[in-house]
Amino acid sequence: MSRKMKNKVLQNLKIERIATEGKCVGHHEGKVVFVSNVAPGDVVDARVTRGKSSFMEAEAIEIREYSPDRVTPFCAHYGTCGGCKWQHISYELQMSYKRQQVVDQFQRIAKVPLPEIMPIIGARDTRYYRNKLDFTFSNNRWLTREEIDSGVDFERNALGFHVPRRFDKIVDIQHCYLQGSLSNDIRNALRDFALAEQLSFYDIIHQTGLLRNLIIRSTLDEQVMVIVQFGEDDPEGIEKTMQFLKERFPGITSLLYIVNLKKNETFQDLDVHLYAGKDHIVETMEGLRFKIGPKSFYQTNSRQAQRLYEVAREFAGLTGAETVYDLYTGTGTIANFVAKQAKQVIGIEYVAPAIADAKENARQNGLSNTLFYAGDMKEVLNESFVAEHQRPDVVITDPPRAGMHEDVTRTLLALEAAKIVYVSCNPATQARDIALLAEKYEVRRIQPVDMFPQTYHVENVVLLELKEHDDQ
Ligand SMILES: C[S@@+](CC[C@H](N)C(=O)[O-])C[C@H]1O[C@@H](n2cnc3c(N)ncnc32)[C@H](O)[C@@H]1O
Repeated sequence: MSRKMKNKVLQNLKIERIATEGKCVGHHEGKVVFVSNVAPGDVVDARVTRGKSSFMEAEAIEIREYSPDRVTPFCAHYGTCGGCKWQHISYELQMSYKRQQVVDQFQRIAKVPLPEIMPIIGARDTRYYRNKLDFTFSNNRWLTREEIDSGVDFERNALGFHVPRRFDKIVDIQHCYLQGSLSNDIRNALRDFALAEQLSFYDIIHQTGLLRNLIIRSTLDEQVMVIVQFGEDDPEGIEKTMQFLKERFPGITSLLYIVNLKKNETFQDLDVHLYAGKDHIVETMEGLRFKIGPKSFYQTNSRQAQRLYEVAREFAGLTGAETVYDLYTGTGTIANFVAKQAKQVIGIEYVAPAIADAKENARQNGLSNTLFYAGDMKEVLNESFVAEHQRPDVVITDPPRAGMHEDVTRTLLALEAAKIVYVSCNPATQARDIALLAEKYEVRRIQPVDMFPQTYHVENVVLLELKEHDDQ
């Protein structure tokens, strides 16, 4: 029955509400249908892409009635580019849908008594809020249906973002609303220069081509780092490109390049060459300085990261007497942020270079009450580690999307810290972990924060407090 549904067109499907991961829900003959890139209130014709016994997935092929809540997307690349997928929904509604996702996941998965879930903390900047963008050069530009039908022989080189689920096709970005004007100027000027000079754009299928990838990072006070990845070790082409960027954009703080002959674009294991300026930029938050090198992780929305950390710190309720564990500390940003209000802070993180950055950040910020350790959380966080470093009064945990390993959750139950502040970018795994922690903890506060306007992503902070012991 379900197989037969594939490719079938469901006509006049009423879109009812938002579900997880930005998908919307409708019903066809009593069965749930998940549809992407639509809005609650739309009526659509949708083609089934996947049919299961309990649900279907479908793509809208025609919108018959537009939801009254829709707004006009502001970006010319909306619809083909994978970013900013919620532009057709007003920011007010985006915020309420994000909060609703937290409500749904906690009610469906955590199934524990909950306090009121607070309205989401929205972003002041709903555009131009990212401090890092990663563009790909390609000789295989995505062509629109109209371009293909026109029969015109279009330029096929491109510099931009991947088309969703297409590793080999790149949308040529003319203007991106995620990072400020210098970023747009640098990308467009470099593309024009490369085309004029006939430098080769990367061919992902054959793994050839000089220009491969462009990363632009920036700080709130407008320092800029530019990293160019080259797919061929061609000193003349590299020099030409880097000299162009240096001369055309003297305001670049840190100009770097990498020769990457590997199959993938990751460069943690490659040498980064300094071409001009400094080898890092520095972000400032509440007077604290964070050194950002080409390989360092830093939250991509600096302004909202500060809001997120303020919530975490407030939930921790520190008095200066506490030992705090900052689990999944990355480059130690949260640890640095709370250190002045704690007796000591101990950060643990998987990536060794991030821990080196965390130590350097603490040193630069004159903090002498932090310690950082590199390793897998489930191996590092055990009874002997705790015996060596004092039991935590407060644990702040900020795991990746997959949430915490069950062993880590069980260790936290054994540690019995008075408070756990759980920061998460995935309320579903957070709710799952909290269901386990509920054996000894009560959920006291829940505060969603919007780090990524125009997308369905939501960050959520939860305060858990140890239940009173029942000695009877
Ligand atoms: C969401 S980030 C948190 C970053 C940091 N709290 C911040 O705000 O900048 C999650 C971090 O967990 C680390 N991580 C992932 N798996 C881990 C593991 N098994 N053990 C320790 N750290 C891990 C990642 O390297 C990443 O730095």
